[in-house]
Amino acid sequence: MGATTAQRVAEKELAQQVILIDILEGIPMGKALDQWQSAPVEGFDSRVIGANDYKQAAGAEMFIVTAGVARKPGMSRDDLVNTNVDIVKSVSQEIKKCSPNAMIIVVSNPLDVMCYVAKEVTGFPRERVVGMAGILDTARFRAFLADEIDGSVEDIQAMVLGGHGDSMVPLVSYTTVSGIPITHFVKGDRLDAIVDRTRGGGGEIVKYLKTGSAYYAPSAGAVQMAEAIVKNKKRILPCSAFLEGEYGMKGIYLGVPCKLGENGMEGIIELELSADEAAALKKSGDAVRSTQDIVKL
Ligand code: LAC
Repeated sequence: MGATTAQRVAEKELAQQVILIDILEGIPMGKALDQWQSAPVEGFDSRVIGANDYKQAAGAEMFIVTAGVARKPGMSRDDLVNTNVDIVKSVSQEIKKCSPNAMIIVVSNPLDVMCYVAKEVTGFPRERVVGMAGILDTARFRAFLADEIDGSVEDIQAMVLGGHGDSMVPLVSYTTVSGIPITHFVKGDRLDAIVDRTRGGGGEIVKYLKTGSAYYAPSAGAVQMAEAIVKNKKRILPCSAFLEGEYGMKGIYLGVPCKLGENGMEGIIELELSADEAAALKKSGDAVRSTQDIVKL
């Protein structure tokens, strides 16, 4: 996923230099060289470089953290917590050392808890540590809905909030097709089935791939966040943000609508939710907190 992210960042020329860092000998260098050699054909001038050492990234403005092991079929994202805490902890320590003013977009799983690890370890403010999951979950929801109504993905607006796990909360009441409520097109059981498929969207791919998890859609999501920040677009996107009382919760990361601009996560938008949606979001927050409670830093 890191490699696909780098290629997307380079193709969009979001940075002059894109550095692929991995502990594996040779792999980041080989992938970076291959990507850089696509530049003359694709027409981008972002230099893609591979490294094993964070020194190469000294002073980098943004890190997209995809490090960690992926799920195997049948596993939940929470099953990864023990292995990935150690990985994300060490990555965060390196980032703090080499680029203390950087912005961090976390993608490692279990996502919301890994964001918490990155924030705690770096001591960065919440504006500079934000997680990518909501865009991915929302993109899956939008893609499934576009299929269902035989329409354009571009016309479907939606918000999937909550933790990046089985308890995520697709907000049907905020889902429209060019402003027309989704319930005009899809109803009842069909809509419920699409909501369920969205919740299991990552697992569906893991089941097919067997030895890895999704990377094309997750990298697209991470790069959309990077672009909003780099270009100061002030976009409102569902991201995992550190709650300090918003939605009646604090001390955890959870998927909520955020404004992204040059200062990173510039604000959380508190939506009016139905009683059912608010209860589902609270339940999702509780699920994130119970995984977070396992973490010892
Ligand atoms: C997924 C992984 C990246 O949802 O969490 O595909």
